[in-house]
Amino acid sequence: MQKLKHLRHVMSPLDLTTEELDKMMDLAEDMEAKPEKYAHVCDGMKLATLFYEPSTRTRLSFETAMLNMGGSVIGFHSADSSSATKGESVADTIRVLGCFADIAAMRHPKEGAPMVAASVSPIPVINGGDGGHQHPTQTLADLMTIRKLKGRLNNLTVGLCGDLKFGRTVHSLISALVRYDNVKFVLISPEELRLPSYVKEDVLAKNHKEFTEVIRLEEALPSLDILYMTRVQKERFFNEDDYVRMKDFYILDEEKMGLARDDMYVLHPLPRVNEISVDVDADPRAAYFRQVYWGMYMRMALMFTLLELEVK
Ligand code: NCD
Repeated sequence: MQKLKHLRHVMSPLDLTTEELDKMMDLAEDMEAKPEKYAHVCDGMKLATLFYEPSTRTRLSFETAMLNMGGSVIGFHSADSSSATKGESVADTIRVLGCFADIAAMRHPKEGAPMVAASVSPIPVINGGDGGHQHPTQTLADLMTIRKLKGRLNNLTVGLCGDLKFGRTVHSLISALVRYDNVKFVLISPEELRLPSYVKEDVLAKNHKEFTEVIRLEEALPSLDILYMTRVQKERFFNEDDYVRMKDFYILDEEKMGLARDDMYVLHPLPRVNEISVDVDADPRAAYFRQVYWGMYMRMALMFTLLELEVK
């Protein structure tokens, strides 16, 4: 196992300073441009993926990131296939995985579970999404994509649309963006799926950020630099009827895209259900697959940083 000078965990984007984020984005660009330079920096190292909840992008992106740096991957991709079914706690599981691996990524349906793991872990733990709370590595992908497309992370009007209540990607992205100057937020959601008041008060108001809440997407579209669409989080609803009522509340299509500026980009953490019509995919402003692409390089850069690696 790698001996680290500082054992650090990433539970929320706030565990990284904006200076560190800038450096990580520069590093991710270098990793994309010169893959051979980083192809062996993790030789002999292992990533453990502890996924207690379904995932396609996040887990495979972490795995690809480690493989691209010469390391290997161990782990499980559902609670059913781990000793969680026997009643093992996340704290014990991470202590065990800490005997095998150098770094871990964990996704869990319960808010705070990765923090519990981090509090006893001998290796860095990265939160790969905890319930409706935080998803910091999605934010890394989002920030990188915005920087690539707009050339800046300040002076932006960002619309967040859909399930702002349960959408952990939204909570993480807001907490990251409030640290940049002159970022305004337009919160687009049905009444029932509004941004939780703790995010409005503790994150937006406390950082003196301007925000408006609207129900109609059409009303918000003309003013936006970035539109961040989200899926209604079916798995977090208490009853099926409420989900069915909400699930097709927003459908972005090419006709609505006509209301947006030519330099407004559409992001989505994916998976998409119906909230973005496939006819938008060919629009040059559709950036969601580019987000996936940059997410992998940002996970490489994050693991490189937490493992205190250097290029030889
Ligand atoms: C998101 C998540 O898991 O929160 N997906 C992802 O990691 N890209 C968004 C979602 O599931 O809707």
